Amino acid sequence: MYKERSHGRFITVEGTEGVGKSSNITFIQETLQKAGIDVVATREPGGTQLGEEVREMLLDHRHSGMSVDAELLLMFAARAQHIEQVIQPALKQGQWVLCDRFTDATYAYQGGGRGIPNERIATLERWVQDTLRPDMTVLLDLPVEIGLARAAERGVADRFEKEQQTFFEQVRQAYLVQAQKTPERYRIIDASRTLDEVQQQIAAVLQLILEEQGA
Ligand code: TMP
Repeated sequence: MYKERSHGRFITVEGTEGVGKSSNITFIQETLQKAGIDVVATREPGGTQLGEEVREMLLDHRHSGMSVDAELLLMFAARAQHIEQVIQPALKQGQWVLCDRFTDATYAYQGGGRGIPNERIATLERWVQDTLRPDMTVLLDLPVEIGLARAAERGVADRFEKEQQTFFEQVRQAYLVQAQKTPERYRIIDASRTLDEVQQQIAAVLQLILEEQGA
């Protein structure tokens, strides 16, 4: 199994738009660093030069006619590069990888949002990742209308952010289904609370994984 080949832990952070991913990822990174963990923070789509260029294509309005399969395959193309160049080497060296979105986002957005059957996504997941899966996934969960109102304050919407509320409702539901299927790695955080309360919830789940690690 993958875990036996590596020492680092792989933590992913997920959620729909406006759930507060950025500030909470910074909080997670700082908490782990204070516990003496060597953390590599990265993101998807992106994390490598190739991946960041693919990200630009994926988010660009000029590609409003992108087919759903092209979108799915570009996500996994960026992911393949990211795993080979960044994630696997870091985990093998014993570093912890903190990733802003990973394959759960594909099940949520391309599966739930765009309607691609889960089995197609699972085929690519096995192909590109082999047995690599996150050790822990922090899902920042929030009613969609609150998240969209927060995201609207951030300015220009990208190709995903311009989708309608119903799309994001489907994305949120797909995340919750993923969480039900793999409860051992999912930690659902109520992101409708104040930032302080959200961080208390996150600190509690990090404490558990740090204790397991003996850190
Ligand atoms: P964000 O990281 O700033 O939220 O932007 C990335 C966008 O890409 C976000 O709208 C979600 C979307 N996305 C997918 O649709 N599928 C994926 O697999 C990933 C990683 C992201």
